[in-house]
Amino acid sequence: MKLKRYIFNLLAAAGLLIMITSCDHDRNHPGWVYMPDMMYSVPYDAYSPNPVFSDSITMQPPVKGTIARGRKPYPFERTFQGQQQAGKELENQLEVSEDILREGKRQYDIFCAICHGEQGKGEGHLYTSKLFPAKPTSLVDDYVQNKPDGEIYHVITLGSLSGLMGAHGPQIKPEDRWKIVHYVKHELGKSN
Ligand code: HEC
Repeated sequence: MKLKRYIFNLLAAAGLLIMITSCDHDRNHPGWVYMPDMMYSVPYDAYSPNPVFSDSITMQPPVKGTIARGRKPYPFERTFQGQQQAGKELENQLEVSEDILREGKRQYDIFCAICHGEQGKGEGHLYTSKLFPAKPTSLVDDYVQNKPDGEIYHVITLGSLSGLMGAHGPQIKPEDRWKIVHYVKHELGKSN
């Protein structure tokens, strides 16, 4: 009995010793690596250099002309002609309704109000706080209100001609862009 207890104590002490010594206060060092294939990943990390590709970049951009699933390429360019053409050819397929306007406002408040202001007069915080130097166009004045829906959609998608307003296409789904257009025309426009 005594021997068993002795062996048990010895093992416990050895275990405790291993536990204490295996901890390392140097957080930059992983300690003993006894399963290297779990510790170090076999594939190249996204941002690590890569000897396989001629430009040494691991995270290769998609092949030119690739279209993401569920996305349609946008056919117009960020030029004066492109904007005019979008105004002529694109139509808002969504019918105005309370739900659409509510969602349009929600999207507008998230993506546009910071510059154009909650009332759309260009009084957004980024501008009034002087963090953003260019005055955002008033969306309630005739200049924007008289634009066809497609032109406003175009500006949201690709940004303004001068580039002062950036493209929002990558952030906002096409359907939500059309909801914002309705909101700009049917709610903000009324407060003019
Ligand atoms: C970072 C600030 C900023 C954000 C965010 C922003 N805009 Fe703008 N917007 C501007 C500025 C600045 C201009 C004037 C740009 C110019 O004259 O080139 C402008 C111009 C416009 C115009 C007029 C374009 C024209 O043809 O003259 C429209 C329409 C517009 N914005 C709508 C929107 C909508 C809708 C959103 C939200 C999806 C939005 N903007 C988000 C800053 C912004």
